[in-house]
Amino acid sequence: MHIFSDRIERIQVSPTAKISDRARQLKAMGVDIISLSQGESDFETPSSIKKAARRAIDEGFTRYTQIDGVPELKEAVCAKFRDENNISYQMSEITVTSGCKQLLFNALMTLVNNGDEVIIPSPYWVSYVAMVEIADGSPVVIPCKSANNFKLTPEQLDASITPKTRCLILNSPSNPSGAVYSRSELSALAEVLLEHQQVIIIADDIYEHLVYGKAEFSTIAEVEPQLKSRTLTCNGMSKAYSMTGWRIGFAGGPEPLIQAINKLQSQSNFHPASISQYAAIAGLSGDKHFLKERRSAYQERRDTLVRELNHIYGIECSIPDGAFYVFPSCADLLGHLTPDGDTLKTDSDIVKFFLDTAGVALVPGEAFGYPGYFRASYATDIDTLLRACERLRTASEKLISV
Ligand SMILES: Cc1ncc(COP(=O)(O)O)c(C=O)c1O
Repeated sequence: MHIFSDRIERIQVSPTAKISDRARQLKAMGVDIISLSQGESDFETPSSIKKAARRAIDEGFTRYTQIDGVPELKEAVCAKFRDENNISYQMSEITVTSGCKQLLFNALMTLVNNGDEVIIPSPYWVSYVAMVEIADGSPVVIPCKSANNFKLTPEQLDASITPKTRCLILNSPSNPSGAVYSRSELSALAEVLLEHQQVIIIADDIYEHLVYGKAEFSTIAEVEPQLKSRTLTCNGMSKAYSMTGWRIGFAGGPEPLIQAINKLQSQSNFHPASISQYAAIAGLSGDKHFLKERRSAYQERRDTLVRELNHIYGIECSIPDGAFYVFPSCADLLGHLTPDGDTLKTDSDIVKFFLDTAGVALVPGEAFGYPGYFRASYATDIDTLLRACERLRTASEKLISV
């Protein structure tokens, strides 16, 4: 007999959270660990944002707020969508939640019925599958080829849609692959979606501002306005604004969907923290110079990490266009023996070997539904990246090819 609900028995603790916890634990025990498993910026929340939060406390904004965020924040979100994405939303088409994660959870709980299919291109962010399962839906995972930069093609999308398809989750820039869909790629996917009226698109744009070189960010509701009435455009303050702990996510979408999400929110956590909401207003309406500076720092880190990883035996890494992750192949190391005589059978074995032997924490591709790869984050300084790669190189040279 289960003690807990079937729902909770079906899911696992998020593997990325588990790895970060294990790396933190080993560090606390005095083990010299370099973590490249983190999903958050090492930069501080900008001081103007912190100041706005202090002001909010001093001015007494410490009480319950509207379910979907205070009007000033919703106005700032409308302005953001208008100015940065060229999408016009009314206030009633905006909601604010405790992080983008809660937003996605609310959206799937609101949209998905028992057995409804949700298309998730892989490699995918770890929580999508679990969230669909919690909502009693069926995740339909579509592996996207590395040769196509891990992106879903219109042919794959067309082939995966059935009468039971309820949603498509599109994440660009992607966690973990860093893939960024161009305007024309989104347009080609949109053409397929226009033929299937029942499909709601959940666009997860949380890494919007982290795009490098010639790549440009686009989002599907802007690229194909005819899809706006069935697209939930999701975003938040966590990544580019270095505000992971503040927990502010937001979305624009069709009013009935937004109001249904608000109904769920009213019966769960009610609203995001009042102080964080005022911090987010300062972030969205304030000076955004730091975004550009940080973007160029990330780009330099990315280039360093890719170059160094490609010097390591058995690892092959392409250059991603966005987010702060690389997603190299470690398939050539499968079947190798460790100095202790253990066979590396999976990418999880490889990641465990690197943690134990090199003291470097990575996330296995299996966690993202994409075996034979691993994710490394470059949300850390260049010296740390160089030290990590040196350790990985030394460790990989100890492996025995059989
Ligand atoms: C693809 C993706 N979506 C959503 C989130 C959740 O972000 P938030 O901190 O706003 O909940 C993350 C965080 O890692 C992410 O990587």
